Amino acid sequence: MRKIFLAIVMTLLGWGVQAQSKNEINLVPIPAKMKINSGQFVIRSNTSIVLSSDNPEMQNAVAVFNNLLNRAGGFRLSVTVSPASSNAIVCKLNPAISNAEGYKLSVQKDLITVEAKTPQGIFYGMQTLRQLLPFQIERPYLSNVVWAVPCVEIEDEPRFVHRGLMLDVCRHFMPKEFIFKFIDMLAYHKMNTFHWHLTDDQGWRIEIKKYPKLTQIGAFRNRTLEGRYTSPDKRKWDNTRYGGFYTQEEIKEVIAYAQSRFINIIPEVEMPGHAVAALASYPELSCTGGPFEVEGLWGVFNDIYCPKEETFTFLENVLSEVIDLFPSEYIHIGGDEAPKVRWQNCAHCQALIKKEGLKDEHELQSYFIKRIEKFVESKGRRIIGWDEILEGGLAPNATVMSWRGEAGGIEAAKQNHDVIMAPNNYFYLDYYQADPKTQPLAIGGFVPLWKTYSYNPMPASLTAAEAKHILGVQGNIWTEYIQDSDYAEYMAFPRGAAVAEIGWSPQSLRNYPDFKQRMIQMFKRYDGIGWNYCNAILKEAE
Ligand code: ACM
Ligand code: ZN
Repeated sequence: MRKIFLAIVMTLLGWGVQAQSKNEINLVPIPAKMKINSGQFVIRSNTSIVLSSDNPEMQNAVAVFNNLLNRAGGFRLSVTVSPASSNAIVCKLNPAISNAEGYKLSVQKDLITVEAKTPQGIFYGMQTLRQLLPFQIERPYLSNVVWAVPCVEIEDEPRFVHRGLMLDVCRHFMPKEFIFKFIDMLAYHKMNTFHWHLTDDQGWRIEIKKYPKLTQIGAFRNRTLEGRYTSPDKRKWDNTRYGGFYTQEEIKEVIAYAQSRFINIIPEVEMPGHAVAALASYPELSCTGGPFEVEGLWGVFNDIYCPKEETFTFLENVLSEVIDLFPSEYIHIGGDEAPKVRWQNCAHCQALIKKEGLKDEHELQSYFIKRIEKFVESKGRRIIGWDEILEGGLAPNATVMSWRGEAGGIEAAKQNHDVIMAPNNYFYLDYYQADPKTQPLAIGGFVPLWKTYSYNPMPASLTAAEAKHILGVQGNIWTEYIQDSDYAEYMAFPRGAAVAEIGWSPQSLRNYPDFKQRMIQMFKRYDGIGWNYCNAILKEAE
């Protein structure tokens, strides 16, 4: 009864049943090639989804779409492997398509065909189909919308293999339910990587069975800085005990959820710096012996891991559990912001520098990372580190994540190392995105949507061979000032959508005014799904 009443009201309000017109095609990221034809295909409750092969990955590739249709339209399409020549969405694996993530989508009046080399490509084709439907597809069932898809021919594939966002859950803990939502946001924009920043000075967030104190002690802090970062005499503290962590069972749930949306999760375990929460739990791994408290202040701290045998054993045991949990080829080992003052004043560290014939503490950090790389490679995986791992010499096979601008990325590519571009001046999504006077407190900086969108991750100074090392792009969401998931979403979007388009779409098709108009339309979809976002572009002058 309530549904009928709402349907009448919605129809009177003019929200009824019209199909999406051509000028309402607002795909993000914009496809590599698209031709719009006349006519439309209407999805009805008796339309079927036909798979070329019935395996769990193909089922996953269409499941999100079918669940959505069920929520918005009140019906679920039958999924079969029997051939159909009309009134069907045919999903076919086609080995002739060269890009593993690419797809072809053909919408004709009586048939939709999605072809791809892999189920992941089919999934992306289904995400495009989702965005071609009226925006009401993202709303819970309200009225009798006609589920019309405009006739199009799309041939699409990503520009880069790494398209992702990082979320810091250490400065502020984000519940598992939000991680699911965040993964949905990534998948919606055809991103394929979630970089999960799991350990830092202010909290250790992953259960490690061999070292229970990491979460008994390291996952909780007794106080948190209130308001803006100030000099010590002006600091105010919130003395509420704060923390949380993910059990290994919860992490397995998150990994399974991500896999069903074709997202790889790269876990990050920071070393040798940003380690105070670990040192508060196991002070014997430091140079001084402590004691330490899990930090409630933001910043860079002098106490870091001491490169003793005991520390390497600890880190290898931690990484073994992490590697057993996460199927990711890449494991992020941090490497950023490790002050060398403790190492300069530690007898063990100085003796190790002499014994190994190292020049200084930067070479000691390089020795540290190279040892960890060897261990990670012995498990069949590879390391990524922040661009500081260039200092003192790169580990032989390390991939560099360039965050202090793009200079580290350019240097690494010139040294024949793979690179992910995450330059803070474009891709730090914790920076302000509009006039700070109009915004909640943030860490600083100024990265409005146009600025993020303006970045081209292919530096002109690279040769063609060096340019092949640019694997892709990533936006980073550090959470010192982001206390909850609602604010994290607000910071993530729409800038995260710009990162997605930079990672996916050909540079030649990228155009900010056009992107901005598509995003303004996209907001109706975000509203329907229930994602928070910053709408500052509605007030931005052209
Ligand atoms: C970083 O922002 N310290 C990687
Ligand atoms: Zn030491």
